[in-house]
Amino acid sequence: MTNDFAKHPVDETSTDSLVASGLRYGLVDTSDRDSFEAWLQADYRGFHGPTASKEQVDSQFTGVTYRRTVGVWDDSLVTPDVPVATTSSWTEQLTVPGDRTIEAWAISSVTVSPTHRRRGIARSLIEGELRSAAAMGLPMAILTVSESTIYGRFGFGPAVFAADLSIDTQRAQFRSTQRRGKLQPVSSTEFVEEAPTVFERIRTSTPGQIKIWPLRWDQISGKAPGDDDYTKKTRIVRYDDDGGTPRGFVVYRVAGDELDFTNHKLTVDYLLAENPEAYEALWRYVLEVDLVREVKAGLRSVDEPLLWQLSDRRAITATPVDHLWLRILDVPAALTARRYSGPSRIGFDISDALEFAQGRFVLETDETGNAHVSKVEDFPADIAAVALSINELSSLYLGGVTVNSLVAAHRVQELTEGAGDIIDRAFRSAMTPWLSVWF
Ligand SMILES: CC(C)(COP(=O)(O)OP(=O)(O)OC[C@H]1O[C@@H](n2cnc3c(N)ncnc32)[C@H](O)[C@@H]1OP(=O)(O)O)[C@@H](O)C(=O)NCCC(=O)NCCS
Repeated sequence: MTNDFAKHPVDETSTDSLVASGLRYGLVDTSDRDSFEAWLQADYRGFHGPTASKEQVDSQFTGVTYRRTVGVWDDSLVTPDVPVATTSSWTEQLTVPGDRTIEAWAISSVTVSPTHRRRGIARSLIEGELRSAAAMGLPMAILTVSESTIYGRFGFGPAVFAADLSIDTQRAQFRSTQRRGKLQPVSSTEFVEEAPTVFERIRTSTPGQIKIWPLRWDQISGKAPGDDDYTKKTRIVRYDDDGGTPRGFVVYRVAGDELDFTNHKLTVDYLLAENPEAYEALWRYVLEVDLVREVKAGLRSVDEPLLWQLSDRRAITATPVDHLWLRILDVPAALTARRYSGPSRIGFDISDALEFAQGRFVLETDETGNAHVSKVEDFPADIAAVALSINELSSLYLGGVTVNSLVAAHRVQELTEGAGDIIDRAFRSAMTPWLSVWF
């Protein structure tokens, strides 16, 4: 992964607004362990985590310092070296419809110390990140969120949704009885050696997925320091096809019930399957583990085939949640990066309070699903057109949201009758967007 972006200077407009509040804004010297540790402790504090241990600092120092690590400091404090606000950002490969990827500015670790909240620091940071990303020529920014109320004001819209599943194992019977391949327990070391290869084979066909960095694989597997309970309880099972090639993994933990030994709960922390056989075998495995009544799984797709594989689909309670938020910065670059389902001509009249994407744009797609985008003063008379803000276009972008529901919610205005149907046909993704990690 190239890290030229990591040294990109912080935004001048945000520097000025923070200086006016008596604060200093800048890049953290990530080659210096002490500076990085001060930043990391502020990040952990911001998310109500414990003070990071030496082992955690070591693993993060190796694992995330390739990123552009930003802090805000208040030099009037007793501990001026510990930032009062943090962000961490990097260029990420986001999969878009049509088995393609786009470079996106991934923003993480957005924290402001509770002592300095609600005085505009996060606004300076986020707007600074967006201006920096645009200055680097990146067509969009992405993030996963702690709350869904924060980022709309900066032009982000929810674009990938996730489902938290709770499954009653006593009702969960598979329709099919076919069993293929081989399951076996593997160690966390075997998992981190093999799972990324399996994941890479599916990543670019699933809109919404990003590259998963090595430290995240370590964290999923329980190898990373920091959560001893997770590390001790984590079990991993691998699925090999009939030819002996690994095609999937499930990472899970089981917790008991002190009064009723038959009432264990199994939590699926990650389930990765390259093909339908691996998928069914791994789900069948976790649903058939003895002494388990309930299986929980977070961050699953909102379109899990499992619902169709069980004879009683109400064995599953699925709670949807917004997961990936996306913010288009460069409309032509973003819209031409993905493929569409066929020929169309669509006009977008886009409002953007931060002005990155403001204007009227015409999207023309051909039979192969490739697109051409032009900025226009006025729409041609015969075009299907809508007016919307950049938030809604960003939500629509990956094809997991229907424009007609945004029209019904008065979030998108049809400028020509039936424009919503035309956009929905063109934008729909054959594969429901899914992102399997937090960042
Ligand atoms: C969320 C957080 C970063 C906000 O920082 P902050 O410096 O207090 O935010 P600002 O003062 O810059 O607020 C900017 C705007 O966002 C709004 N806002 C801030 N936090 C908000 C929240 N949690 N929910 C809704 N709106 C929020 C403010 O009201 C303000 O609105 P306006 O300018 O449109 O009137 C901070 O509260 C925090 O660190 N929270 C815990 C960690 C976290 O959840 N981080 C986000 C990770 S995705």
